[in-house]
Amino acid sequence: MCDITRMRSDHFEAVTNAQTESELEEARLRAMGRKGEISQRLRSLGGMDPEERKRQAPALNALKSDLQKAIARRKQELADQALAELISKESADVTLPGRPRRRGTVHPVSQTIEEVSAIFADMGFGIAEGPEIETDWHNFDALNIPPDHPARQEHDTFFVRNRDPGRQHPNVLRTHTSPVQIRALTAQGAPIRVIAPGRVYRCDYDQTHTPMFHQVEGLAIDRDITMANLKWVLEEFCRAYFEVEQAELRFRASHFPFTEPSAEVDLRCSWKDGRLTVGEGDDWMEILGSGMVHPKVLEACDVDTDIYQGFAFGIGIDRLAMLKYGIPDLRDFFDSNLQWLEHYGFSPLDVPALHSGLSR
Ligand code: PHE
Repeated sequence: MCDITRMRSDHFEAVTNAQTESELEEARLRAMGRKGEISQRLRSLGGMDPEERKRQAPALNALKSDLQKAIARRKQELADQALAELISKESADVTLPGRPRRRGTVHPVSQTIEEVSAIFADMGFGIAEGPEIETDWHNFDALNIPPDHPARQEHDTFFVRNRDPGRQHPNVLRTHTSPVQIRALTAQGAPIRVIAPGRVYRCDYDQTHTPMFHQVEGLAIDRDITMANLKWVLEEFCRAYFEVEQAELRFRASHFPFTEPSAEVDLRCSWKDGRLTVGEGDDWMEILGSGMVHPKVLEACDVDTDIYQGFAFGIGIDRLAMLKYGIPDLRDFFDSNLQWLEHYGFSPLDVPALHSGLSR
C-alpha cells in the first residue's frame, strides 16, 4: 500500500511540474501509457491472490482516475498561461498618445499664402482668382505690355499652343498674377480691394528661380486712393507678416508697363549669421513691385478713370517664405522631399490667424 502512496506522489509531482504540453504528455505516458507504471500494475492485478487484489484494485483505480483529472487540470492551466502570455505581448495601451509614422505637414508656400491672406483679409481685401493658362490679352495687352516687350519673348514665357484655328493669339502660362487684376476689375468693377495669390510660370531655373513659383497680387481701386495708402498697407503687411514691431520700407522708382508711377520696394533688414532680422540694420532687401494702376489698364476694364484710381502690387510668396523661415534654396520647395517637408512643414491644425499669432 505504501508503494501506491509513493506512486501517487511521484506521478502527481511530475504532472504539476510539467511546464509544457509535451512534458505533460511524457508524465502521462510514464504513468498510464501502455508501459506506464500504473497500467502495468493494473495489468498485474489478474495474477494476484484475491485478498491482495481486493486491497490494491480500488486504490490503483482511484489513483488512475485522480491522475487523469490532474492531467486535464494541468493541461488547461498551461493553455491559459500561454494565452495570457500572448495577450500581454500583443496588448495595446490605448491611453498612449498617437505616434503616426508619416505625419502630413502644410507646405511653407501654403502656410505663407494662409498668413498673407489672413493679414490682407484683416485690412478688408477679398480674394480673387484667375486661370493659370491665360490669354495673352489678359497676361500682356490689357496690362499695357506692348508686343515688343522683353517679357513677351519666347525665352521668358511658356506659350501654349492654341488648338482653335479661329484664334490667332496664343495662350500663355501666366507669367505673373497681374492678369487677375484685369479679371477682377472686369467682373467686379470699381471700387475694389482684392488680393490674388497663385502660381505663375517663367523660363528660369537657379537657386532663386524655378519655372513655377508663387506671387500674390494686390489691387485697390477707389475714388481717392494714393501712394500713401499703398505705403501704409505694405508697411502694415510687413509688420504683421514678419511679426515685428517696426518695418521700414524704401520705395525706389522703377518701371512696369501697368503702373505709373512704379516703385520697387525694399525692406530694411540685417543679416547676422545667416539669420534675417527685419526692421533694423543697414541692408535693404527687395521684396515686391508696385505702383499706381496705369489709366490704360483701367480703361481696358471699362473703369472710369475720371473717378477712379488706385494701387497694385505683386509680391513673391516663395521669397517671403524663404526669408521668414530661413529656407536657403528655392528649388527644394518643389522637390517633394519628405524629410524637407517634415522639417519645414507646418502642423495642419495650426491655422494662421492674426489673433492667435500667424506662425507658431
Ligand atoms: N507683375 C509684376 C511682376 O511680376 C509685379 C507688379 C505687380 C508690379 C503689380 C506692379 C504692380 O514683376
